[in-house]
Amino acid sequence: MRGLFISFEGIDGAGKTTQARLLAEWLTGRGHVVTALREPGGTCVAERIREILLYSKDEIDPRAELLLFLSSRAQNTAERIRPALAQGHIVICDRYADSSVAYQGHGRGLGADEVRALSMFASGGLAPDLTLLLDLSPEAGLARQKNSDRMEDEPLEFHRRVRHGYLSTAKDDPARVVILDGAQDVEVLRDQIERVVQDRIGT
Ligand code: TYD
Repeated sequence: MRGLFISFEGIDGAGKTTQARLLAEWLTGRGHVVTALREPGGTCVAERIREILLYSKDEIDPRAELLLFLSSRAQNTAERIRPALAQGHIVICDRYADSSVAYQGHGRGLGADEVRALSMFASGGLAPDLTLLLDLSPEAGLARQKNSDRMEDEPLEFHRRVRHGYLSTAKDDPARVVILDGAQDVEVLRDQIERVVQDRIGT
């Protein structure tokens, strides 16, 4: 038995965390077993890596940064995601490989193809079955942020490259990535997400 792997993606402030929670509640209410996770993080080891990545006061070299995100992903995938999928759970992950491609590949300029290949190594070849990309302008996304972290402190130009990176991933992989308008009202977006997921699970 193999469950379903759904990831949420988007720039900072796009509303992923809220929608991931609402989707988990909706699916649980319909009798599905849901494992909800976030990246970076999701396990004890990965949460410690998250602290370094988001709140370190020291400079982090872009390649070191990428490898830390991937290290967190490798741990999360092995310890939580694969076992949950093997038990037939629906796994909802707040960010996965597309974040690395968008932020490190496009934002930091490390190259989308290289980052995608390294991320596949980290996940042992696992990719989401469905990715919900909440698209939003960086101006709107950053305006919604209350507390900033190391990534959110980057200039607007960085977040523009990240958004462009996401849209180009969606263009390359339209069967997996569904683009939704993150500027919409929370409830409207929630309905759209439920419809997309319902189509995939067929219940
Ligand atoms: P988080 O607070 O979890 O995201 P959000 O603010 O969207 O809820 O912070 C994660 C940050 O790390 C976010 O700015 C995106 C960034 N990130 C990367 O740069 N690369 C990655 O591979 C991942 C998973 C996240």
